[in-house]
Amino acid sequence: MTVPGYRDEPAARWDPAAPADPGEAEDFLRQCYTENQRLGPVEPRLAIVRAQIAATGTYVHTTDELAYGAKLAWRNASRCIGRLYWRSLVVLDRRRARTADEIFSLLVNHLRTAGDGQIRPVISVFAAAQPGQPYARVWNEQLIRYAGYRGPDGCPKGDARQEQFTAAMRGYGWRGKGDQFDVLPLAIETPAEGVRLYELPERAIREVPLTHPEFSWFAELGLRWHAVPAISNMRLTIGGVHYPLAPFNGWYLGTEIGARNLADTDRYDMLPTVAARMGLDTSRESTLWRDRALVELNVAVLHSFEAAGIKMSDHHTESQRFLKHLSNEEKAGRPVPADWTWIVPPLSGGITPVFHRYYDEMDLRPAFYLDEPAAALAREGCPVRRTH
Ligand code: ARG
Repeated sequence: MTVPGYRDEPAARWDPAAPADPGEAEDFLRQCYTENQRLGPVEPRLAIVRAQIAATGTYVHTTDELAYGAKLAWRNASRCIGRLYWRSLVVLDRRRARTADEIFSLLVNHLRTAGDGQIRPVISVFAAAQPGQPYARVWNEQLIRYAGYRGPDGCPKGDARQEQFTAAMRGYGWRGKGDQFDVLPLAIETPAEGVRLYELPERAIREVPLTHPEFSWFAELGLRWHAVPAISNMRLTIGGVHYPLAPFNGWYLGTEIGARNLADTDRYDMLPTVAARMGLDTSRESTLWRDRALVELNVAVLHSFEAAGIKMSDHHTESQRFLKHLSNEEKAGRPVPADWTWIVPPLSGGITPVFHRYYDEMDLRPAFYLDEPAAALAREGCPVRRTH
């Protein structure tokens, strides 16, 4: 079923058999060489790339082109409020890795490079897809996610969003602990080896137990979250070349955890529990018990990350930074594509400055696109096995 306007619909279809589009290659290279004068004139490079595409159906980015293309994909990501720092992205060129073992160890390395305190935005770019050839990818939506189970009584446990994925992993023989915050294995698919499951080592998973600055009972809820959000189901598209495996991370904005992951009714659904512990009157909506519980949950998230020394932003600060980004880009004469429904934070929207304006909506490339199996997974809630 396709839901029109569904937020996880891929913005652009991709035909994995099609050759790299020479027009898109030229647009990207001109932009890359114009914005980076030190790379020299673009014309000789264009001639090489045209010849490569004519001979092989695709072309190979230089290290500089790859690094700048990845930064541009971030700068163009219309759903991201954190784009002020797009130039600081650390780009790890992993195009040579082939086996699942190699990919896994580089993913562990990615998480360690992202850091476990002062978190750095990092992307690992693995091999580009070759037209008509099978390619490697990771099935997980993020490198670190918690499993979701349903007990015999029908009660959900863990991250309900991951129930189908968790069931698929169990189908492949994975046995989790079955608790609330059980880190899923990585499912790495390569053309030569099919899908293989890997357990992340503890040193790659930094987590923060949640406490509240005033409510001592909060710790008893046993809540926690991981420090690094690392998206692994988006395809990076640069100048007509597609990188199906290019996981990237930033640092968290508190509301992602406090107002969505732990609060959404189809995720951890913690508001009724928090409200009960706060002693709020939950008999009527008009007591605003949900809103009061939501604020305290978000206070706990920000407080706990700060206490653990892990970088995290709050929605007020990040909204101001986004406006700074808009004005920087305007000065540089560039449009900033932005999706209001994603930019405005899910808590206190109207008291952040990003609420009170409209944005340009455009599909600029280079870009990150949710890959199609991942989009189907999000829509239908079922694991999709790619058939090449
Ligand atoms: N919202 C997602 C999550 O809760 C993470 C999306 C990316 N976020 C980021 N701060 N880079 O896990």
